[in-house]
Amino acid sequence: MPTVRWLPSHSGPKANRVTNDDLKMFDLKAYLARKAQRINQALAAILKTADEPDRLLQAMSYALLAGGKRIRPILCLAAAETIDGDSQEVLPAACALEMIHTYSLIHDDLPAMDDDDMRRGQPTCHKAFDEATAILAGDALLTLAFQMLASIAVNKPEQASKWLRVIEHISHAAGYCGMIQGQMLDMASEQKPLTLAELKSMHRLKTGALIEASVRCGAEMAGVNSDQIQMFERYAQNIGLAFQVTDDILNVEGDPEIMGKAVGTDEQRHKTTYPALLGLAESKAFADQLVENALAALDAFDQKAEPLRAIARYIRHRNR
Ligand code: IPE
Ligand code: IPE
Ligand code: MG
Ligand code: MG
Repeated sequence: MPTVRWLPSHSGPKANRVTNDDLKMFDLKAYLARKAQRINQALAAILKTADEPDRLLQAMSYALLAGGKRIRPILCLAAAETIDGDSQEVLPAACALEMIHTYSLIHDDLPAMDDDDMRRGQPTCHKAFDEATAILAGDALLTLAFQMLASIAVNKPEQASKWLRVIEHISHAAGYCGMIQGQMLDMASEQKPLTLAELKSMHRLKTGALIEASVRCGAEMAGVNSDQIQMFERYAQNIGLAFQVTDDILNVEGDPEIMGKAVGTDEQRHKTTYPALLGLAESKAFADQLVENALAALDAFDQKAEPLRAIARYIRHRNR
C-alpha cells in the first residue's frame, strides 16, 4: 500500500517570493515555464510511491504527468505571491487542484461523456489503458488529492484549520455545488439547448468554480484581508468564465496539433457553447470584456499582481 506524504523539495522561502526586480521586465512565458516545472516536479514526487508502479499508478501518472498548462496551480501560486505570501507553503494546495482537474479530464473524455480520443497530445487515458482503469485512475487522483491535504493537517496541527479551509473550498468547487454539477448540466445541454443565462451558469460551475478556488486558496493561505479577497473573487470569476468561453472558441477555430485534443467536437455533439449561441465575433468580444473586468478588479494591487494580470490576458489569447 503506497504511503502518501507531502515531501516537496525545499528551495527556501525567499526563492518563492516575487520581488519587484523580477517584475520590472515581466516575462509571462518564462514565468509559466518556471512555475509549471515546479508543479511538475512536486506532482511527480507525489506519485513516486513505488519503484515499480502498478497499472493503476501507471494510468494516474500517464494522465497527470502528460503536460497540460497547469493554469489552476499556477493561479494558486500567483495569488499567494501577489500578497507577498510564500508560495512554497501553498504548493500542496496547487498540486491538489491539478490532480482534481486531471481526474475531471480523464472522466470527461470517457465514452459515456465526451468520448474523446486525444488529450494533452496523447491518447486519452481510457484509450491508452481501458475504461475501467481510466475511471479508477480518476477516482484515485481525486481521493489522493484530499488524502494529501488532510495528512498535512494531521501532521501540522498548528496549521490544521488553514488546511481544513483549503479542503472545504476545493471540495465545494469540485463537487455537487461546483464542477460536477456543471458537468451534469453540460451533458444535459446536448439534449436541450441552454439559454445564454443557463450557459453562463453552467460554465461558472464546470470550469469557473475550480479556477475561483485556485485563486482563493492561494490568497487565503497567504493571509489576504477581507477587502482584498473580494477583488480576488471578482478577478477569478471573470477569468474563470473567460477561460471556458475561450475553450469554446478554440473548439471551433483552434489547431488540434497545438491543443493536443480534437476540435469541432462541441458542434458534433450539439453542445450549447458561446460560439453556438452568439457567434464567434461576439464570443471573442465577450471574452475580451471579461478579461478587462478581471484586470479592473486588480487595480488596487501593485506590481506584484503583474503575473495575475498577464495570466488573465493569456487566458484569452492562448492557442492551447
Ligand atoms: C481543459 O482545461 C478543460 C476546461 C476546463 C476548459 P485546460 O485547458 O486547463 O487543460 P490542460 O490542463 O491545459 O490540459
Ligand atoms: C472539461 O470540459 C472538463 C471540465 C471542465 C470538468 P470540456 O469538455 O468543455 O473541455 P475539453 O474541451 O474536453 O477540454
Ligand atoms: Mg465536457
Ligand atoms: Mg470534453
